[in-house]
Amino acid sequence: MLVRQLLPKDLFQGKTVFVTGGGSGINLGVARNFAALGAAVGLCGRTQEKLDRAVAELQALGARAFAQVADVRDYAAVESAIRATADTLGPIDVLVCGAAGNFPIPAEQLSSNGFKAVIDIDLLGSFNATRAAFDQLKQTRGLVIFMSAGMAYVPHPYQVHVGAAKAGIDMMMRNLALEWGPLGIRSNSIVPGPIGNTEGMRRLGGTDDPDDHSVATPLGRYGTVDEIGQAAVFLASPLASYVTGCVLVVDGGSNLMGSEPFRHAIERMRGD
Ligand code: COA
Repeated sequence: MLVRQLLPKDLFQGKTVFVTGGGSGINLGVARNFAALGAAVGLCGRTQEKLDRAVAELQALGARAFAQVADVRDYAAVESAIRATADTLGPIDVLVCGAAGNFPIPAEQLSSNGFKAVIDIDLLGSFNATRAAFDQLKQTRGLVIFMSAGMAYVPHPYQVHVGAAKAGIDMMMRNLALEWGPLGIRSNSIVPGPIGNTEGMRRLGGTDDPDDHSVATPLGRYGTVDEIGQAAVFLASPLASYVTGCVLVVDGGSNLMGSEPFRHAIERMRGD
């Protein structure tokens, strides 16, 4: 259910949201929920075609939308996308650091470069976007939302690179909440659980069927990208004005089950 069915349609009128990796998946779901509530939305990602499709989808919701190709590992490219978004849509009120990379692999088979690729996209990429948006966030007394993962808290097999990167993201989130709180900038993370119909789920052995009720979460189903979008809207809404330095877990309770269901899904996918 889109949040505009629960909240005033103009909640974010006059606000600008920028989403890294916003061309698809969970991040596009986040962008869509902000757009549905009146925000202007800027996106960056690596693939022009995905961004074009995403912009058209946001515009169909009545939003002003803009996108520029940028790999978050490239500081100059991210800075340019953020500046162009501000020039087109206005200074950034909400930055969503969603760009991420993942592939499951046993630690002893992971190359140094493979480890670095994920650290660079997830951790360095999130810092790059945050650093590049700082002046605007200071001006708007804005908010940063990081996309973390359960791997940051519970060790998951085949995820040494992702666990390290996401744990780093959450510590960075807390540091920024501390340092930038006095400037009125809030900083929080969302931990999405298994979300149906996403590239991440496909890469991690999910069945890709959002209605698959065999999924091992206490709620017995995948989450939806809109449910992560709704969590992001909550963090950006006046309801969360005193919430900073916080990890918001939106996972159907899957963290309560440890990492064994994840191991089974990966091993099924790998044929182990
Ligand atoms: N298994 C093992 N190693 C892998 C791998 C896999 N499936 N995919 C990439 N790597 C390794 C490569 O071998 C390379 O290391 P090497 O030089 O020692 O061989 C290193 O990772 C970098 O690979 P490369 O393909 O050059 O990286 P990239 O920058 O083009 O892609 C990735 C980044 C690897 C994270 C890629 O999976 C990606 O682009 N993902 C984005 C989408 C995504 O993951 N979405 C899900 C988010 S949850």
